[in-house]
Amino acid sequence: MKFFVDTADIAAIAELNDLGMVDGVTTNPSIIAKSGRDILEVTKEICDLVEGPVSAEVVALDADSMITEGRKLAEIAENIAVKVPLTWDGLKACKVLSGEGKMVNVTLCFSANQALLAAKAGATFISPFIGRLDDINLDGLELISDIRDIYDNYGFDTQILAASIRNANHMSDCAKIGADVATAPPAVIKAMANHVLTDKGLAGFMADIAKAGIKIV
Ligand code: G3P
Repeated sequence: MKFFVDTADIAAIAELNDLGMVDGVTTNPSIIAKSGRDILEVTKEICDLVEGPVSAEVVALDADSMITEGRKLAEIAENIAVKVPLTWDGLKACKVLSGEGKMVNVTLCFSANQALLAAKAGATFISPFIGRLDDINLDGLELISDIRDIYDNYGFDTQILAASIRNANHMSDCAKIGADVATAPPAVIKAMANHVLTDKGLAGFMADIAKAGIKIV
């Protein structure tokens, strides 16, 4: 499973990228707003930092304006994936932009029907939002599983990019289901390393080493 980092925090991306943990980056209008930076400037900096796809989202709501903005975003770098919302206008923009050979990430997906439409519109990635479904007592992972089944039934090339990841379990659960990508905040990716028995075992090793006075010099 590919790991994308869901942030515009350059330092956080760089830290994980140095560990080989970054196969791409996703942003959205809220993440860009939180960065306090110009969207084109921060997106260019991210594209210069990572080789994989970098999703940058349009802010228009009508298809023609989305297409214009998408073309502008795609000019930033070769590895830009233009992000469009899962609306009819977003699907129209997806069809045109993907037809021009641009990567398109269709976002704000909350149903299998929406994911089916995105695949038929030529989406490179589909972004089902797990956490936001869980937040209203629906099953985000079940949606990932349903989309996986549908895409595999018909050989759709669209990659499932699990998004709105809230915790480390979401990452392993998405991998078990067969999501192509999961995009998560840096803290969630880091939390995947945590286990109380690892900490306990290491403390035991260190105590025994200290007792025995063993050093590697
Ligand atoms: O960026 C897309 C998605 O990951 C947003 O997640 O946490 O705002 O539901 P969240």
